[in-house]
Amino acid sequence: YSARYYIDIVKQNGFPAGEDELPLYGHFRDDMMWSTATASYQIEGAWRADGKGLSIWDTFAHTPLRVSNDDTGDVACDSYHKPDEDVRMLQNLGVGFYRFSISWSRVLPDGTTAHVNEPGLRYYEYLVDALLSSNSTLPQITLFHWDLPQALQDVGGWENDTIVERFTQYADLMFSRLGHKVKHWITINEPYIFTNIGHGYGAAAPGISFRPGTLPYIVGHNLLKAHAEAWHLYNSTYRPSQKGIISITLNSDWRAFRGLVINTVLSQFQLGWFAHPIFVGDYSELMKTTIRNRSLELVCGRVWAGLGCGSVWVWVGLGVAVCGCGRGLAEVDVLLCSRGTGTVVDRAWLDSGSGWLKVTPFGFRRILKFIKENYGNPPIIVTENGVSQRQMDLNDTLRQHYYTEYINQALKAYLLDGVDIRGYTAWSLMDNLEWATGFAEQFGLYFVNRSDPKLTRTPKVSVQTFSTIIRCNGFPD
Ligand code: NOJ
Repeated sequence: YSARYYIDIVKQNGFPAGEDELPLYGHFRDDMMWSTATASYQIEGAWRADGKGLSIWDTFAHTPLRVSNDDTGDVACDSYHKPDEDVRMLQNLGVGFYRFSISWSRVLPDGTTAHVNEPGLRYYEYLVDALLSSNSTLPQITLFHWDLPQALQDVGGWENDTIVERFTQYADLMFSRLGHKVKHWITINEPYIFTNIGHGYGAAAPGISFRPGTLPYIVGHNLLKAHAEAWHLYNSTYRPSQKGIISITLNSDWRAFRGLVINTVLSQFQLGWFAHPIFVGDYSELMKTTIRNRSLELVCGRVWAGLGCGSVWVWVGLGVAVCGCGRGLAEVDVLLCSRGTGTVVDRAWLDSGSGWLKVTPFGFRRILKFIKENYGNPPIIVTENGVSQRQMDLNDTLRQHYYTEYINQALKAYLLDGVDIRGYTAWSLMDNLEWATGFAEQFGLYFVNRSDPKLTRTPKVSVQTFSTIIRCNGFPD
């Protein structure tokens, strides 16, 4: 198929064509890293198999009324028992990479290296080997995708700063056991979301909501320190021989108002909360004031030094642009405003299966450019991007449209704006447990049949869309 085929799909499905929607033809870098992603709690199941310890998500999902429909990840997609099937799906898709996460409590049941659960570790070793031997799909491993061992939560979780050492020891173990084969590491997934939703709103594990004004800042700080320690450990001890790269995944919405980026939201609080210490070496002045106003003492020490150098991976948000003031698509770059302050949405923006996610591809290019301009043009690997639906839809035209449009905007960022884009990752390989909204929100390229005990996976049509873009390495004319 040619790229025009996809643009035609977009037209046939009646999507609006404004200025931002005009397609750009061209290619990404020759070594562009095409990938798709999952996370342990969302897909693995086997919640108590082979010596695995409980995680905060096991606890949370087993607490009544926490997760929609009382769904749990007890079985999820049963990926723990289906590594070969998962690898076949990846092969069929044609990605060169697969981003998955390690369940910390599967490997270290009580969170500490005092007891290593070898059977749990063997699952990841098997998966890595299966990926590498199957046409060589390269693993990208996230060490912490939110499922903290419950045993560590019991002693304060991310609020207790001994977690930094625990995380570093866990990271050390994973580098030493898998690092000769795994060359791409992500320390922590989306600290902003984990911090706020889990420790501010309480709508995700560990479900704490009674100190929203302070706890998220403490948790965020320890996440940053843990990232920094693991980053330094990898680069000083492992990188010289293993020759891989390590970074963190950050998320961000795109927000602007009357042509100005809402700087305080974007560059200081959301993206900047974590990006500033990492790229600049300390919290932004505004963040420091906020922290002081809450009588907290959060000092960035020596540990930040040099974090922004080398290979930095930056995750760019799924939804990217969230809300606006209803002025029509041609003015999109002047109208986005923050979620909290009178959310008004342009009616032309397509809905997804997630309340927080509107289809707004133009914002994707803008956030990429924003990162380039504000953080010294770092190499960027988009570690997640995708869209959900609430109904079973094998001919998922919304998702076909979404990937075509967002990836085309990424191409514009690369070719027209000079953003250093190295990789793109689709969220998600298959329908899975979308955290507190359960299985109802489906982000998968593959449909997982939950009424079939075998949990069979079937490709949706978007698999063709994405794999054609991969094969063409973009959009040839
Ligand atoms: C980002 C998270 O990393 C992932 O776990 C989640 O499923 C998607 N967002 C969709 O909300």
